[in-house]
Amino acid sequence: MSLPQPFNLDGRVAVVTGAASGLGIEFSEAMAEAGADVVCSDVNEGACEETAERVHGLGRDVLAVRCDVSKEDDVKAMVERAVERYGRVDVLFNNAGTRRRGAGAASASTRPRTGIRSSTSTCTASTTARASA
Ligand SMILES: NC(=O)c1ccc[n+]([C@@H]2O[C@H](COP(=O)([O-])OP(=O)(O)OC[C@H]3O[C@@H](n4cnc5c(N)ncnc54)[C@H](O)[C@@H]3O)[C@@H](O)[C@H]2O)c1
Repeated sequence: MSLPQPFNLDGRVAVVTGAASGLGIEFSEAMAEAGADVVCSDVNEGACEETAERVHGLGRDVLAVRCDVSKEDDVKAMVERAVERYGRVDVLFNNAGTRRRGAGAASASTRPRTGIRSSTSTCTASTTARASA
């Protein structure tokens, strides 16, 4: 009997937002190494394509999609493309954001709410897609 291995994502589909930089690159590769096909999305389309090439180099199928997670229509379109291609979304890594420091008190007070809103809309779009797939 073979037991499921931790982080075995064979046959799964993972969406990574903010895939063009930093942790988004690391986790896109990690999902692929664990066996998942990966939807790499980011507002920075060119750099996102570079991450997608890295994932492809790991032997997994990959879809690169430009998406600004602060725009609900972008998020819906990204999830629709993922479902069109793979028929499902199993893993959602809500990573898009910024690590910039010292942007001022006003920005600091609004940034977390923006992050929560965009994460929520990405979750909602993915869950809706999964329910109707
Ligand atoms: N690196 C850390 O030490 C650290 C610590 C705590 C939290 N985080 C969080 O982890 C996430 C990634 O951090 P990182 O260090 O890799 O940051 P990073 O700046 O290297 O990468 C962030 C990525 O998100 C993308 N992005 C930004 N706004 C976006 C938007 N509206 N829509 C789509 N994509 C968008 C950027 O284009 C970029 O590719 C961030 O949310 C950050 O706040 C990071």
